[in-house]
Amino acid sequence: DASPSDRIAALLTSFPDCPEPGVVFRDLAGVYAEPGLLAQLAGHVTRHLGAGFDRILAVESRGFVLGSALAVLAGVPLTLARKPGKLPGPVYEAAYDLEYGSDRLELQKGAIAPGERVLCVDDVLATGGTLSAAAALVEAGGAEVAGLAVVVALAGLGGRERLSGHPLLALHEVT
Ligand code: PRP
Ligand code: HPA
Repeated sequence: DASPSDRIAALLTSFPDCPEPGVVFRDLAGVYAEPGLLAQLAGHVTRHLGAGFDRILAVESRGFVLGSALAVLAGVPLTLARKPGKLPGPVYEAAYDLEYGSDRLELQKGAIAPGERVLCVDDVLATGGTLSAAAALVEAGGAEVAGLAVVVALAGLGGRERLSGHPLLALHEVT
């Protein structure tokens, strides 16, 4: 059978100068549309990490896809890190710079128990700003970042270096 990385490579598409000049946007639509592939990807992550995490923190919005599949497969709680102003009640906030623009992530206070080992999940790692904010939210809640999982890591944008303090599992690397 083809490896997760080979299957993703065959289904990824690239859009030059999207959403602005100089940026090549990697589109995962074909990856998600492929029957059975999301289950294979989630299975690969759970086999690699075993019982090494107690909870998934999935990043809005495209991180919700792999995050949900992983929570179902691993049978662990799913928590959503959201863009500003979406979550009710008291929240932790973490600001970050993006490849194109800047943004903020929020996590409800009390959503993660202190001491839990949390796996942060997103679709794409680019500069690492988003996942570093997710990790900061986990730590603000007194929990531990068990690791970071992404479908695709884009090389050359500094993401791996920025997140070097945490184990990163990328199902495919674009060089
Ligand atoms: C994209 C992508 C990751 C992030 C990666 O999300 O889904 O979350 O950027 O970039 P980084 O490593 O440089 O932070 P986006 O902010 O476009 O939001 P969306 O998922 O809601 O479309
Ligand atoms: N594709 C999808 N999401 C992204 C990208 C990309 O190339 N860069 C930053 N977020």
